[in-house]
Amino acid sequence: TTGQKLMKYHHIGIAVFSIEETAWFYIMQGYSKSETVYDPIQNVNICFLSSRNGDSSEQPKIELIEPVDKQSPVHKILQKNGVSPYHICYEVKDISDTTAELKKQKFIPLSKPIEAVAMNNKKVCFLFNKNIGLIELVENENIRF
Ligand code: NI
Repeated sequence: TTGQKLMKYHHIGIAVFSIEETAWFYIMQGYSKSETVYDPIQNVNICFLSSRNGDSSEQPKIELIEPVDKQSPVHKILQKNGVSPYHICYEVKDISDTTAELKKQKFIPLSKPIEAVAMNNKKVCFLFNKNIGLIELVENENIRF
């Protein structure tokens, strides 16, 4: 499958201290904000910011992730780097197939695929590669490239 496109950009994830204190900046630029949803797996609140006029090529989708307490993994990122982008998420047709493919490219899965409340219960997982950084996969069997 070398050269075949397996993944499609979905969002960039930004660790924030407070969704409230950050979202206004993007709303001012023409983004619409989704409802904020609590994700019990990561112990974070999450919202999505999407282009209000639907032009995602000019305003790529953004996720804001706010830790609920110090146990949240995002808390550590904020302590170290402050507010910062820390993952890019890609849609894939089959999360197991893509994970197997990425393992050949030296990505290390950080968890088994799990259903994420904030992603409409779609399966997600995080993988790390030291030259790429942290990525997230979200399964969408209806994906079109
Ligand atoms: Ni994400």
